[in-house]
Amino acid sequence: MKKKIKNNVSWIGKVDWELQKFHGDEYSTHKGSTYNSYLIEEEKIVLIDTVWAPFAEEFVENLAKEIDLNKIEYIIANHGEVDHSGGLPALMKRIPDKPIYCTSNAVKSLKGQYHQDWNFQVVKTGDKLDIGNGKELVFVEMQMLHWPDSMATYLTKDNILFSNDAFGQHLATEKLFNDLVDPCDLFVEAMKYYANILTPFSAILKKKLEEVLSLHLPIDMVATSHGVIWRDNPIQIVEKYSQWANDYQENQITIIYDTMWNGTKLLAEKIAEGIELADSEVVVKVFNLAKSDQNDLITEVFKSKTVVIGSPTINNSFLHSVAGFIHLMKELKFKNKKAAAFGCYGWSGEAVKQINEWLQNAGFAVIDEGIRNQWNPDINVQNTALEYGKKIARSV
Ligand code: FEO
Repeated sequence: MKKKIKNNVSWIGKVDWELQKFHGDEYSTHKGSTYNSYLIEEEKIVLIDTVWAPFAEEFVENLAKEIDLNKIEYIIANHGEVDHSGGLPALMKRIPDKPIYCTSNAVKSLKGQYHQDWNFQVVKTGDKLDIGNGKELVFVEMQMLHWPDSMATYLTKDNILFSNDAFGQHLATEKLFNDLVDPCDLFVEAMKYYANILTPFSAILKKKLEEVLSLHLPIDMVATSHGVIWRDNPIQIVEKYSQWANDYQENQITIIYDTMWNGTKLLAEKIAEGIELADSEVVVKVFNLAKSDQNDLITEVFKSKTVVIGSPTINNSFLHSVAGFIHLMKELKFKNKKAAAFGCYGWSGEAVKQINEWLQNAGFAVIDEGIRNQWNPDINVQNTALEYGKKIARSV
């Protein structure tokens, strides 16, 4: 069912209440998601983006109930990823000759995924499309935000920026707008989305935000492709992105460990106590990696000024869960964060040194050689861990 968002602009997407994982199993979506498609009915009828492939037939049927599909003049594909382009094959079967406006890179991604020679019309930043009634669509390339093919589309007079993935959140809701949902849920999901998807592109994003803001376009709404539309003070999310893109951190130290027989766990807890003793202002959090959601942990890393990683030694190395998590942090290219390592061992004890090497290689400033302990931590070692926590707190 289409829902009006402003004047002749409607939402016609899909709310995916039961989505638990996104990007395969790479990204947890505890609160589901939405795939937002928009219909503009001026003299020309325009469809902006579609939905994820499993909902393609349902989407086209719904769309056909609202309008004669043959009356769609222009299709805008802001991004080729399947969660927004997945409805195109079913739609283009019904209206095969209609033009699809997209970037040159989106031609590659759409052809590469669907192997169809649709009527692609390539656009660049600043290109405009007259849709009648004195209104235009203006295209803005958003290369690497987050794919090389990404772009945003601005609707003049209604002052709506269709930003695609940028400013989105994985949040299923029947409410269309930011002022109608729980603000805590909204900002948790918006930050998680940024931390897990956009962090590697922060430098590019900073420049793009400056470029878009320098155009002084009036923006009444930021209509994203996931979650709610920013209608109430839409610039608030642009300002948040400006902060997040600027090597964001809060006054937080996060300890993340995995453990086999709880020795490394005990060290983690003592380090946390030491951090609190040395600095009662800092937020200290402790997570057992094996019992935690990795994407939620990435949000905690995003907020942290220091990350402390622990693993016991196994097979002359460290636990693969920890290796996987450091790899994930490396992919996300966090900047301006410190790190430290710790762990117990029974025999050879290589884990801590190796974790430090991996952390350094992942772009973290490693504080020192870390602490390691043979066998179970006795009271002296527990005190050493506590003192080490104090050192970490003071080293920031
Ligand atoms: Fe990059 Fe929502 O897809």
